[in-house]
Amino acid sequence: MPDLYIGLISGTSRDGVEAVLAGQGGPLGWQVHAHIRYTYPDAVAAELARLTMAGHGHFQELGQLDAAIGDVFADAALALLHEADLRPATVRAIGSHGQTLHHAPTATPRFSWQIGDPFRIAERTGIDTVAMFRQRDIAAGGEGAPIACGLHAACFADPSLRRAVVNIGGISNITWLRPGEPVTGYDCGPGNTLMDAWIRAVRGLPFDASGGWAAEGRVSAELLRSLRTDPFFALTAPKTTGPEYFSLGWLQGRLATLTDRMADIDVQTTLTEFTAGVIADAVLAEPAEGPQRDVLVCGGGVRNAELMRRLRRHLGGIPVAETGDLGLPAEQVEAAAFAWLARQSMHAQAGNVPAVTGATGPRILGCVIPGARPATGATEPA
Ligand SMILES: Nc1ncnc2c1ncn2[C@@H]1O[C@H](COP(=O)(O)OP(=O)(O)O)[C@@H](O)[C@H]1O
Ligand SMILES: [Mg+2]
Repeated sequence: MPDLYIGLISGTSRDGVEAVLAGQGGPLGWQVHAHIRYTYPDAVAAELARLTMAGHGHFQELGQLDAAIGDVFADAALALLHEADLRPATVRAIGSHGQTLHHAPTATPRFSWQIGDPFRIAERTGIDTVAMFRQRDIAAGGEGAPIACGLHAACFADPSLRRAVVNIGGISNITWLRPGEPVTGYDCGPGNTLMDAWIRAVRGLPFDASGGWAAEGRVSAELLRSLRTDPFFALTAPKTTGPEYFSLGWLQGRLATLTDRMADIDVQTTLTEFTAGVIADAVLAEPAEGPQRDVLVCGGGVRNAELMRRLRRHLGGIPVAETGDLGLPAEQVEAAAFAWLARQSMHAQAGNVPAVTGATGPRILGCVIPGARPATGATEPA
């Protein structure tokens, strides 16, 4: 049996599917052999944006989007196989995160809802497909997130360092890897989501390329103070959040309380500084005494030079590198994690880190949809 896996995820930035082919091996122990980004077709992207912004939808709309996104994920897996020049039979399983529609860690009962019908992935590829990773952790009392900490620990732990792995996606999260100690981690707060939401609202752009616009503006101390008072930042782990909480509406609520109307550009600069500060706080919460601290960054936020410049300034002398410097490029880490989680599940190993999510114990995550297509039907003799 081959031991190669495909990992598929579209994150909270909703910027499209990252797809990797990965397996054991290489200097980090988990190696990506091929990667593609598969952007959503315009109609799917528009419908996803419309429904997530509205925060509700009719059953018909939600069902159709679930199916359409399942097809996009299947297309992404097939395109990856084509790119890698591989037959489906050489892949043991696909791990598909899907697209989060709504993450509700503080609801009663709590839930996290991913769409992208995995049966369509299994049907179209013929490959066993593992999906619904977060749900078992939540059923076991966890928040179902952050979920890539196991891979971070497997690939990036260093016996001589206290290492923070920071993923800057739509939301930012931190994993602490300390020599001889259990892994810890949580969501820091917004990653790119507020910066993206603002530039989209005022300039119609999907993101601030390299942070170039933010670099031209000024930080408002008043707005920054107001943003930082959100109670999420005072919570202790386990804690997770999503763009449904740190939304454009959340930002507009804070802007409305200011004494003077701010220039749009200065809002972008302030959000960039705020995001850098939120991440830096999570790193600096680790005491200076003890083994050397360092930071490994991944996710699309590493492409925002202004954000990274501000983050480095907050962190002073603490070394900051990208995961790509160690051999796993920043934009591939999350998809590599779902390939890794698929392997964990197929080998009946736990995928969650209970100390991170708050689950009552380790769990085998997800459900497995068989990809096999039997030659005979149920009513025919086998
Ligand atoms: N060239 C760039 N300049 C600035 N920001 C970028 C650039 N490329 C990507 N990003 C940011 O990264 C985000 C995507 O990051 P990603 O890790 O895929 O997040 P998610 O996991 O939430 O989808 C984009 O929405 C954008 O904010
Ligand atoms: Mg993404």
